[in-house]
Amino acid sequence: MAKSISLTRYLVEQQRGHTGPADSPGAIPPQLRLLLEVVARACKSISLAVNKGALGGVLGTAESENVQGEIQKKLDIIANEVLIEANEWGGHLAAMASEEMEGIYVVPNRYPQGEYLLLFDPLDGSSNIDVNVSIGTIFSVLHKPEGSGAGVSEQDFLQAGARQVAAGYCVFGPQTTLVLTVGAGVVMFTLDREQGSFVLTQENVKIPEDTKEFAINMSNMRHWGTPVKRYIDECLQGVEGPRGKDFNMRWIASMVADVHRILTRGGIFMYPWDKREPEKPGKLRLMYEANPMSWLVEQAGGASTNGKHRILDIQPSKLHERVSVILGSKNEVERVTRYHSE
Ligand code: AHG
Ligand code: MN
Ligand code: MN
Repeated sequence: MAKSISLTRYLVEQQRGHTGPADSPGAIPPQLRLLLEVVARACKSISLAVNKGALGGVLGTAESENVQGEIQKKLDIIANEVLIEANEWGGHLAAMASEEMEGIYVVPNRYPQGEYLLLFDPLDGSSNIDVNVSIGTIFSVLHKPEGSGAGVSEQDFLQAGARQVAAGYCVFGPQTTLVLTVGAGVVMFTLDREQGSFVLTQENVKIPEDTKEFAINMSNMRHWGTPVKRYIDECLQGVEGPRGKDFNMRWIASMVADVHRILTRGGIFMYPWDKREPEKPGKLRLMYEANPMSWLVEQAGGASTNGKHRILDIQPSKLHERVSVILGSKNEVERVTRYHSE
């Protein structure tokens, strides 16, 4: 009988291998294992809500805006609440931050305080909810900075992505798949609905270094900067152009789904700075979207930059900071990054 490895078993085995300090890469201290189990459980309940769709009354818009001025969908709020309720009482967290909340959510006094900080985009791809296209939940885990004392503040969250101790996403598509890194490569788990557990279905995920597939919202072309225009223009010229090969295009408008495709078969994803709102560095959020996805991509042998710098090295200056994102197959990301300096 083929052995089936559950997420629980994977995490227990990772924990057993842990000997170093609490924040050493690839190691899972008990609190972090618990945290990841709880996040996975929350993803299961979000998945259930997503699957019910109209039958569960979860589609459509809520009558509220988030801190970024975006109209919230009912599922943005539901997923945010599920993640908070699941994570606040276990004793593994000091605080949480979410794309859907203005400030940080400190674990209430009635529960024990842990050492970790959890950040999430509770529902990524909101515009796809009502049209039954893949959406997801993205999460990132930081350790509370050493010497930050009792209590927790927004400042404690402002750490570069390179300091993440775990990151992942759960994509709700034809299958529900949880993708995770704790700094020891990327692993994928598929939700077995009969058993109610995530089962390991792919280890050692690797992104091919080259690709013939790009993902970008082409409707913004006239607003892009010169380097991105040049890159896409060269791709579009196909075999007759400087690249000497034809490119294919995909744009799902859920970063989770686009990144999932890239982790599965390669490709390049871009949401670059553009001239629509030139004062904003980009659309995507550094701490809830770009950092966790960049770490996953790097752990799978890909690359991720904002056109100039490695995203994981960016020192955030605020919780809801935005960033330009270019990630995926290494040689293509390096090419676009080079175009930014020429
Ligand atoms: P969110 O639903 O969390 O606001 O994120 C949506 C993001 C990202 O998932 C996707 O790649 C991008 O926005 C799509 O943007 P456009 O609609 O501008 O293409
Ligand atoms: Mn998002
Ligand atoms: Mn979102």
